[in-house]
Amino acid sequence: MSFTQVSPAPARLSRSTLAVPGSQTKFFEKAAKGLADVIFLDLEDAVSPEEKPSARKNVVEALRDLDWGAKTLSVRINGLDTHYAYRDIIDLVELSGERLDLILIPKVGTASDVYAVDMLLTQAETAMGRKKRIGLELQIETALGLQNIHEIAGASKRIESLHFGSGDFAASTGARNTSIGGSNPDYAVLTDKDAEGNRATHWQDMWHYALARLVVAARANGLRPIDGPYGDFSDPEGMRVAAKRSAALGFAGKMVIHPSQIAIANECFSPPPAEVEKARRILAAMEKGRRQGQGAVSLDGKLLDIASIRQAEVLVKTAAMIEGAS
Ligand code: COA
Ligand code: MG
Repeated sequence: MSFTQVSPAPARLSRSTLAVPGSQTKFFEKAAKGLADVIFLDLEDAVSPEEKPSARKNVVEALRDLDWGAKTLSVRINGLDTHYAYRDIIDLVELSGERLDLILIPKVGTASDVYAVDMLLTQAETAMGRKKRIGLELQIETALGLQNIHEIAGASKRIESLHFGSGDFAASTGARNTSIGGSNPDYAVLTDKDAEGNRATHWQDMWHYALARLVVAARANGLRPIDGPYGDFSDPEGMRVAAKRSAALGFAGKMVIHPSQIAIANECFSPPPAEVEKARRILAAMEKGRRQGQGAVSLDGKLLDIASIRQAEVLVKTAAMIEGAS
């Protein structure tokens, strides 16, 4: 292991992060009572310019007055290139009470973007005597953001997670996507001809590079990597495959845009029971070895290395959080 110690962000369940437009107050109650691990109330792209002030007011009131249970609550502020963002931050800290956990910054491009929000938040929190420090979630959804992701990921102690956003990322890079977070038949390879001269087309995952880069930057800084939404909410099969794919890559969860996607995300980002069981056996074997003063410990005829023990600890902790939430 490196001599550099990375401290992990506070542990939170974040298998599903439900998008709720700040202008749609009719969704708030349903979101609060639903099974999403995290709710994000949106002030950015799901809200039209005419509705920005009223959406901000709705969100402030909902944070203060609604019972959100034990859910993690986040608000997506407007982009730092708009004239809405400073007022979003100030009103959230000054008017919404202490319930808010996180602020999601969209389209982060440089580490200075994060520094600027941290500075403003710190002043506002101190002036208000706020006890709970608001954490930051960062959406990486532009070419600039992905280019600078390593500096961005280490830009503030408030950062807890990095989120991918495929729709804006495609717009920024000029990628030709067909649906948000979906696949594209043009991003494919052809096999060589077989004996009969036939060739097969294999679709590829056009998001792989961005997702893999984001997961590394997040994990290297102790942050949670969260995949962006799957836009076609009438396609549960496509959503499930996309969620399983990012879970396999190391993502902790996925943003969802419709209540029907919550259960799929919760299932796909929960560790499989067999893996949790094995992790518990690994930790038990370690504990037994420690009590007996053994340096090296084995399980099922295989030596247990430090990496598999760490992985087992994370799995068991996540499983305990899931049991506590259900
Ligand atoms: N949060 C909470 N509840 C939601 C919801 C959401 N995001 N989306 C839908 N619902 C509720 C509806 O109110 C409805 O409730 P009811 O059965 O009690 O009447 C139920 O879920 C079924 O909704 P449905 O009729 O299928 O969808 P819709 O046409 O009302 O809304 C969208 C579809 C896509 C407009 C809506 O889901 C939405 O706005 N999602 C968020 C999009 C977003 O924020 N995008 C940007 C961020 S990535
Ligand atoms: Mg976006």
